[in-house]
Amino acid sequence: MSPRFSNHREGYRALGQAIHFGDGDLEDSPQRTKHKQTLFVWLLAITIVCTVLDFSMIVWDQFIRVDLRSAASSSDKLEQLPFQNPYLNLEILYRDPDFKSSTHDPIINNGPVIAQVSNRERQKIIPPFQRYNSVGRDRAPIYERRLLVTHELESIAQFRVLDFGMENCSLSLTVPPRNSTGDLLYADLGDSIILDVWSLPAKHKLDLYNLSWSKLPRPRVHIGHMNVSYGKTYRMPSFSCKSQSYQTFALSCSTPGCLVNVTGKDMGPSGLYLYQSQTI
Ligand SMILES: *[C@@H]1O[C@H](CO)[C@@H](O)[C@H](O)[C@H]1NC(C)=O
Ligand SMILES: *[C@@H]1O[C@H](CO)[C@@H](O)[C@H](O)[C@H]1NC(C)=O
Ligand SMILES: *[C@@H]1O[C@H](CO)[C@@H](O)[C@H](O)[C@H]1NC(C)=O
Ligand SMILES: *[C@@H]1O[C@H](CO)[C@@H](O)[C@H](O)[C@H]1NC(C)=O
Ligand SMILES: *[C@@H]1O[C@H](CO)[C@@H](O)[C@H](O)[C@H]1NC(C)=O
Repeated sequence: MSPRFSNHREGYRALGQAIHFGDGDLEDSPQRTKHKQTLFVWLLAITIVCTVLDFSMIVWDQFIRVDLRSAASSSDKLEQLPFQNPYLNLEILYRDPDFKSSTHDPIINNGPVIAQVSNRERQKIIPPFQRYNSVGRDRAPIYERRLLVTHELESIAQFRVLDFGMENCSLSLTVPPRNSTGDLLYADLGDSIILDVWSLPAKHKLDLYNLSWSKLPRPRVHIGHMNVSYGKTYRMPSFSCKSQSYQTFALSCSTPGCLVNVTGKDMGPSGLYLYQSQTI
């Protein structure tokens, strides 16, 4: 019995205290100020925590943005990624001995631009010549590509091997007849002009708009000569070129005092281009 009584008594005492506190809260103004202070301290704490969180978010965001920016600006890294073959399973189809492949005409593969570098001023970036002719609204424009080679300028051309199963490539140069072109061929000794042709080990796309001698991939390999004359097409010996791969060439003067200024203007054979013929 007695524990029960004592429980009651404690209960009343607690109730009394609760009432007393309640009264005090209403009447006692220092007590109220204390509560306001507590509230203020809490709000301040929350504000500080939020501010700190905000700032850390901003800092974090900045770091992430810096990362993204550096990744985007180093497009070199992106350019180094391998090309995915867009021709899915064609090689399986062509492996079937019963499959008869159709014949295709060779492709004239024109690069969009030919760049020039100076072998005297090796840091110099020469803005490449580029003009395009629009041939009606519904057609892609034709870019003019200028092959310019002197004793001091070299031309750099890069081609991506087009299509599927057209993996027999030959670097070619077509110059129109003398009386029907503004193209200029000149050499100190007569009309016969010979260019040195080099293959550059570029695994990825070169920035032809921001190229100098010093930025060229090395070591380059001398792969032969090219005879240039009016009204003729000269083809280099053909080589095997993987679909979607980059083929990069440098052309320099072999003949002393030579000047070659040939502008490719057409979709057809004109100026310097890669001639691709069928291999399947
Ligand atoms: C590659 O094409 C040339 C013509 O441009 C031809 O003479 C040669 O036989 C072809 N080679 C192969 C392996 O198809
Ligand atoms: C260019 O000269 C050739 C002969 O060498 C001639 O047959 C041709 O008609 C001439 N073309 C023009 C556009 O004058
Ligand atoms: C190359 O030829 C074009 C016209 O076909 C001309 O405008 C340009 O000045 C020439 N460049 C040089 C270096 O001779
Ligand atoms: C050209 O390349 C250099 C590095 O080789 C780079 O610093 C510069 O920003 C590039 N310029 C343009 C316009 O891309
Ligand atoms: C290219 O020029 C060289 C030297 O003049 C000559 O020996 C060679 O036969 C020429 N080649 C062609 C295909 O004209």
